[in-house]
Amino acid sequence: MMMLTNKSQKTRNESTVLYNHVSANLSELDVQMVRSIRPGGNWQDIPLSVAQRSARVMRIRSTGGRTTYYGRLRPDLPSYTINTYFNRPGNGTFIHPAQDRLISFREAARLQSFPDDYRFLGSNSSMYKQIGNAVPPLLARAIGGLVKPGLCVDVFSGAGGLSCGLRESGHEVIIAGEKEPHMRATYTANHEGTTVIDVDFSKAHEIEEFIAQVESHLGGRTLQLLAGGPPCQGFSMAGKWDKEDPRNNLILSMFRMVESLCPEFVLIENVTGLRIRNKGAALDRILSSLREIGYLPQWFQLGAEEYGVPQRRRRIFIIASRTSDYLEPPRPMFSAIKDRRRNDPASQREDDDRMDPISVGEAISDLPEIASGEGCHEMPYDVQWIQSNYQRFMRGHITFEEFLRKQVRES
Ligand SMILES: C[S@@+](CC[C@H](N)C(=O)[O-])C[C@H]1O[C@@H](n2cnc3c(N)ncnc32)[C@H](O)[C@@H]1O
Repeated sequence: MMMLTNKSQKTRNESTVLYNHVSANLSELDVQMVRSIRPGGNWQDIPLSVAQRSARVMRIRSTGGRTTYYGRLRPDLPSYTINTYFNRPGNGTFIHPAQDRLISFREAARLQSFPDDYRFLGSNSSMYKQIGNAVPPLLARAIGGLVKPGLCVDVFSGAGGLSCGLRESGHEVIIAGEKEPHMRATYTANHEGTTVIDVDFSKAHEIEEFIAQVESHLGGRTLQLLAGGPPCQGFSMAGKWDKEDPRNNLILSMFRMVESLCPEFVLIENVTGLRIRNKGAALDRILSSLREIGYLPQWFQLGAEEYGVPQRRRRIFIIASRTSDYLEPPRPMFSAIKDRRRNDPASQREDDDRMDPISVGEAISDLPEIASGEGCHEMPYDVQWIQSNYQRFMRGHITFEEFLRKQVRES
């Protein structure tokens, strides 16, 4: 086990630097396909003469694949879910709304609500995972706000989306645990003051060492929150449900930590497959395990767009308390996109008095034009490019509360 504490003085983004604005390279065939797809369109827009050159597109045409495949984003709506595949046009809706390329790392980070001074490090393949697997900070902020601010530990911390939101809601994340070095590099660069521990939670002795480190850091102080998003592949709707998948058992390592560290609250984030697959058996098992170790668990399914994230993303949050009773779910500020008519998100908005969700255009329209496969991990940014309140907030010019107030005034 190796420990790394970030004591470096991070240069905050002084609104003249833009990080990670790099898009994935496309093959010549992909470029041809991308060119034929209109905003809001998908593989159905690809002409037969071009489609015939791709076995995958022909397969999708014959079997009727998802309408999100080879999707081009619409500027006037939130994006579809940003997963780890935004380097490929065929695995989701990742084509830029106006340029013939895939969204860049920074654009994906904006759609996940990471502020612009959040810098992603490591290999490109890791960065797709860092961004696509993260809890959107604004969603984490909403959940963090349910619990009185205190000391937190983030396990399976990844690049730190969850921690970023918890910090913004007033918590102090003292320790993060993560096994992947590139994830830790990004986490460390963005969370000054948090001790980032290299730990494999599948190994019993490493769990015990991790617990000892946390106890030593706490030095008798109360741990308010143990939070984490154990790997979700075993539960994922996109993947095959596998009860024997050992990755599902990583969640059990969290219970071991809960038993030893006795936090006031436990927060577990996961994909919606947790409550759907196998009639919710995995969710039930987690809830009953938490009850067995003396906690009162409850769960919410939240839609990211309702909390200011410019993205349709559904996630399950289990929150368990040692003492309190029922916690109200966080209050949504933006309308939801409903599931009913999946092909036309515009017609799905709830007819309520909340603000419209933040759109892709509001999220990324200021970012400079780049060609497919190009861009730069550090380039100049001109403050005059800002076109929306969300961009102002992402650039750090206004606080979240100011952003909300401005949106309310203008809606
Ligand atoms: C879903 S991601 C977490 C995302 C994170 N909560 C965020 O908001 O950015 C799960 C993380 O668990 C890490 N992980 C997987 N298996 C692990 C293990 N055995 N020990 C420690 N970390 C592990 C992965 O490397 C990945 O970064």
